[in-house]
Amino acid sequence: MLGNEGPTGAAARRGSFQTGDRVQLTDAKGRHATIILQAGKTFHSHRGTFRHDQLIGQPEGVVVSTFSGTEYLALRPLLSDFVLSMPRGATVIYPKDAGQIVQMADIYPGARVAEAGAGSGALTMSLLRAVGDQGWLLSVERREEFALVAKANVESWFGGPHPAWDLRVGEMAEVLVGQQGPGPGGLDRVVLDLLAPWELAEACAHVLAPGGVVLAYVATTTQLSRLVETWRGHGSFTEPMAWESMVRGWHVKSLAVRPAHRMVGHTGFLVTARRMAPGFRAPERRRRPAPGARDAEGLEWNAAAFGLREVSERKLRRLRRSATDQAGQSDEQTPPGSDQTPPSSDQVPPSSDQTPPSSDQARPGSDQPPPSDPPEDGDSVESG
Ligand SMILES: C[S@@+](CC[C@H](N)C(=O)[O-])C[C@H]1O[C@@H](n2cnc3c(N)ncnc32)[C@H](O)[C@@H]1O
Repeated sequence: MLGNEGPTGAAARRGSFQTGDRVQLTDAKGRHATIILQAGKTFHSHRGTFRHDQLIGQPEGVVVSTFSGTEYLALRPLLSDFVLSMPRGATVIYPKDAGQIVQMADIYPGARVAEAGAGSGALTMSLLRAVGDQGWLLSVERREEFALVAKANVESWFGGPHPAWDLRVGEMAEVLVGQQGPGPGGLDRVVLDLLAPWELAEACAHVLAPGGVVLAYVATTTQLSRLVETWRGHGSFTEPMAWESMVRGWHVKSLAVRPAHRMVGHTGFLVTARRMAPGFRAPERRRRPAPGARDAEGLEWNAAAFGLREVSERKLRRLRRSATDQAGQSDEQTPPGSDQTPPSSDQVPPSSDQTPPSSDQARPGSDQPPPSDPPEDGDSVESG
């Protein structure tokens, strides 16, 4: 039931249960069932039945019993519950990633946002809530049957059409740059959840206002690499930032307080960048690739491309001299395996020229490289 006051859908999410409300029932083992309340209707399960009228007019959080004595906790589902229980055509964005997307793409009330593909509409609902009734969400989906699923899910969640939503069936690139599109600089944010987001770099640059955010969700490292290299090479975006999030539940009962045994190990990677002002390029942060070190796709298969630092000829000469000196000393003075020998004067202490992590290695909320990053110094890597 759609209320008249407040943002779209808000009124139907509070107060006592009414006819038409969606209610999530949870039994003692945590199993869920969802019903839409209807006067005179009966809920059936193999653990018994109860009448919907037992819930209508009651506050959320009551416990209802079947005639055979099984108890169900009754609550309106949260958006995260709804997304995981709604009909799905395409794979949905999980709530943990939807939350990251809204925050890291900085989706704000009133924002003008485009997303593709709409798929089953899971992310759409989070984006609509974030832009609010005064914003604009242009959702593009190439497959009509998926668009219909998205429409049904979104309207089911909000209790009717959302005033900020503009759902179109078509190709994202064509919609963005077409006559009916947002126009140059007409969008504040673009969110991409589709197979080949790198193909949309030019269209995104066209529609994003300076400072606008483009964010993509990709499932594999190969997509991640291609996307980042494309955005980086495009020239209209700031240095892309990539990360993933892992959420692990905890079992907390009496003295048994430990991580849950099972977790969702992988969903996808998120990448963001910002639109530069037209005519400006982000300051260059990367070192030049070695001559001839590009493959057919223009990727550089050398140490720098893997985030490793090549050892200079000068440093190699020093290391060789130092190793030879030590070898000579160990023959004469030092027992094998001893590390008592002080470093010779031209030996470089391991950390002497370590460079602080560059900001393009930064992860959200941290400017430290992750512990698993390869060491930058002392790695002798042959260039390609
Ligand atoms: C993984 S699903 C999106 C799921 C959606 N974000 C959700 O949370 O429910 C990817 C969708 O992108 C659509 N798609 C792929 N490439 C597209 C393009 N170039 N333009 C429009 N839609 C596209 C596919 O048809 C598919 O439905």
